[in-house]
Amino acid sequence: ALERTFSIIKPDATRRNLTGAVNAVIEGAGLRIVAQKRIKMTRDQAETFYGVHRERPFFGELVEFMTSEPVVVQVLEGEGAVAKYREIMGATNPANAAEGTIRKQFALSVGENSVHGSDSVENAAIEVAQFFSGNEIVG
Ligand code: CMP
Repeated sequence: ALERTFSIIKPDATRRNLTGAVNAVIEGAGLRIVAQKRIKMTRDQAETFYGVHRERPFFGELVEFMTSEPVVVQVLEGEGAVAKYREIMGATNPANAAEGTIRKQFALSVGENSVHGSDSVENAAIEVAQFFSGNEIVG
């Protein structure tokens, strides 16, 4: 089915001028970038976004990292977009990421892993709504 997923190009990637390189992989896989903006995430936004990880030992570090420098938030659209994006992102830990994936090519560590992608259609809708209003998404 035609789906939308939510993506973040993380600070380790924006800092190294890799926004275009990541977007080239996304578009090369046939996903369309139907919304995109560069923002500095606030602490509130990061804590809300990563709320399910609040009790994890890395939560503080994760919020610090995600608010440290600009990120690019995106909505990606395509056939099976949620699974397709997770496939081209590669495993969370770049040490386990398959050849050719975004994280294999660009990620520095499990924390500084260059991109986020929604894990389900349901979560994608919630995540998109946290950062975009309907009129900012142009399919
Ligand atoms: P993401 O898909 O954005 O969602 C949760 C994030 O937590 C994940 O990517 C990782 O970047 C981060 N994460 C997971 N495990 C660790 C860890 N052990 N240390 C630091 N960050 C982590």
